[in-house]
Formats: sequence, structure tokens, C-alpha cells
Amino acid sequence: MVILKTPQEIERIRVACKAVAEVLRELQEEIRPGVRTLDLDRKAEKQLRQKGMKPAFLGYRGYPRTLCASVNEEVVHGIPSKRELREGDIVGLDLGAICEGYYGDAAVTVSVGKVSERAQRLMKITEESLYKGIEKAVVGGRLSDISAAVQKHVEEQGYSVVRDFVGHGIGRSLHEDPQIPNHGVPGKGIRLEVGLVLAIEPMINEGTHEVEILEDGWTAVTRDRKLSAHYEHTIAIANEGPIILSRLD
Ligand code: MF3
Ligand code: CO
Repeated sequence: MVILKTPQEIERIRVACKAVAEVLRELQEEIRPGVRTLDLDRKAEKQLRQKGMKPAFLGYRGYPRTLCASVNEEVVHGIPSKRELREGDIVGLDLGAICEGYYGDAAVTVSVGKVSERAQRLMKITEESLYKGIEKAVVGGRLSDISAAVQKHVEEQGYSVVRDFVGHGIGRSLHEDPQIPNHGVPGKGIRLEVGLVLAIEPMINEGTHEVEILEDGWTAVTRDRKLSAHYEHTIAIANEGPIILSRLD
């Protein structure tokens, strides 16, 4: 069941998203070789709480941290640890917050020091694919128009779309209907309408689209251990077009 949001509800989601975006920006500024992903998690939790927000992921289905930090071949849900980031790594930072019962969710992938051209290209195409998807989030369109736009952009560049995880509706829960795959043919699924709030999150691999889950029960990695990148925005559909709630301007 898809739950449309009122303007008042979207305001709360916007506040949660703004906090997430601000903290993600602060974390990006901390990223350098030698930083531990656990330090980033501590900073994220502290800063969210300072802004009066609650971490959305902490305790969610037993997830033990505020932040997800996914390094190189890790696709999503990397658990922050004492692992030190190294020059040349790429790290996906995924963060969620709750404001007065309403959720915001966003992710970026960041370079640690100087990274390979290969890694830079994967990050660029993945971020572009997110915006290609967002462009299709317009009244009168269909849900799979978003999926198809993401898939087309990345496959044209020789990359693959992760199937095992998807974007999602968001509101009073972190994950609401509809599910938003990052692949598919256009023209299918629900009609897009005003008041839909969606977290669109392409996870894009350099090699195979297949992933597996590590022993910790959370960390998703590429089966071939090639690189993966992840970007996410929470958006609201309005008559004027998509509003990116998790972007700082
Ligand atoms: N952005 C991710 C998602 O929507 C992060 C969830 S991490 C979890 O699934 F721990 F909360 F599951
Ligand atoms: Co999400």
C-alpha cells in the first residue's frame, strides 16, 4: 500500500533529509587515509543528535550502527568498524534520520585521497544514473520509468545494476511501498502522483551484478569483488516536478 504524504508530512521528511545531507557533507570533509569507519559513525550519531534527530538505522532489524560505510567491493550495509580507510579506496556513506516520526535517507560515494580513473568513472556514472532516475519522477509517469532510466544509463557505460536491493517509499517508516528496482522496462508499476515520497538508490557494479552477504549478516559485497558505488536521494513528487529533499543548496 502506497501512502501519499501531505505538505506538512513532507516538511518533516525535509527536515530529516536536510540533517542527513548536512552530516554527510561533514563526514565527506573528514575522509582521508587513516580514518576509521567507526570514527565516522560516531561523528554521524553525535551530529544527528545535536540537530535533534534520531538515527534511523541504529537498531533497525538489529543493525548495530548509525551509518553504513561500504568500502570498494562492498555494495551496501557495510558496518563501521576499526578498519582504516586507505588511499585509493572508495567508500559509500549511507545515513538515515528521524524527525518527529518521519524518515529521511541519503547516500553518497566518496574517494579516499587520490583514486583510480576506473573508480572515479564508476562513481560519476552511478551518481548520474541517480539523477536520470529522479528526472523521471514526474506526475503522470510510471514507477518503472525511474528504474529503466537508471539501468539504461549504467548499462550503456558497461556497468551492471544490483538486483538484490532496491529503492523504496519512505515516510513514517524507513521502507514503505513501493519498491523501486534500478532495472526494468518503462511504463510499468504504479502511476506517479503528487505526494509520493521516494528514496531512489542505484547500486552499480563494475563487474557482475551479483552480490553476496558476508558472515556479519549485513555487508553486501560483489561476487567478483570488483568495485561498487551507491548514491541515494529522498525525493517528493510535486506538480512542478521532483523535489530533492536530501540535497543541500
Ligand atoms: N539506505 C539503506 C536502505 O534504505 C540503508 C538501510 S541500513 C539499515 O536500505 F540498517 F537500516 F538496514
Ligand atoms: Co534507502
